[in-house]
Amino acid sequence: MNNVEKQVISRERVTQHGEVLTARREVDAMLDLVKQETERIDSRFLEPACGTGNFLVVILERKLRAIEKKLTLRESKLKKAEKKYPWKAAFYEPDSMMALASIYGIDILPDSIRAAQERLLGIFIDRYCAIVGQNPPEAYLGAARFILEKNILLGDALNGVDKIIFTNWSMVGRYFKREEYRFSEIQQHPGDEDGLFGGRQMSDTGKPVFIPTPVKIYPLVHYLKLAEEGGNT
Ligand SMILES: C[S@@+](CC[C@H](N)C(=O)[O-])C[C@H]1O[C@@H](n2cnc3c(N)ncnc32)[C@H](O)[C@@H]1O
Repeated sequence: MNNVEKQVISRERVTQHGEVLTARREVDAMLDLVKQETERIDSRFLEPACGTGNFLVVILERKLRAIEKKLTLRESKLKKAEKKYPWKAAFYEPDSMMALASIYGIDILPDSIRAAQERLLGIFIDRYCAIVGQNPPEAYLGAARFILEKNILLGDALNGVDKIIFTNWSMVGRYFKREEYRFSEIQQHPGDEDGLFGGRQMSDTGKPVFIPTPVKIYPLVHYLKLAEEGGNT
């Protein structure tokens, strides 16, 4: 059994950081309570003590399965000649990018964060190969790595929230809109109905809704140019 499958890695880590990882059966049961959200491609999930990513990897698997179902349905409606073109990659790539970009995690242990990032990337690559039927292009992988570096963060979710910066990703066609927010600011209003990064100015009931101020807003970037251009802006 490797560290990722163990629930307890060492007694010292349990004592110092309360590290007892959740088993797959419990993860599935808990995520089933919000099943619809786990199958919505752009539904945002943040786990502020994510460990090696036991919840995050299952959320990613579920989102990618939902995209696969969408593709199967589309394929059934295509004419024979249309199926000859490499249409799968074109449809799968932006949706899967958005699925990955909607998953966030924080942990205080560097090796856990690395493991979570690697597991998410592994699933992302495996599913691409299985669903699209070819290896993912380098630019797609570069973008995935870039997103994981921004979303799965080493930090102290209790006492270091001012140092944690999260990216709000949204897709406009094949382009990413990218805005950065300080976690401490988002955290002040955890109950807002518009989700992790707030939203409208006024709710339907007329109550004012919190709108956080971004630390930085980036120009739109094509998802396949994210690794190349993202680091320069
Ligand atoms: C009970 S484990 C749960 C891990 C994961 N959520 C799971 O269910 O498998 C608690 C996690 O919180 C992390 N942790 C402890 N203190 C933390 C802090 N101040 N900020 C962020 N993570 C912390 C530990 O490193 C550990 O991975």
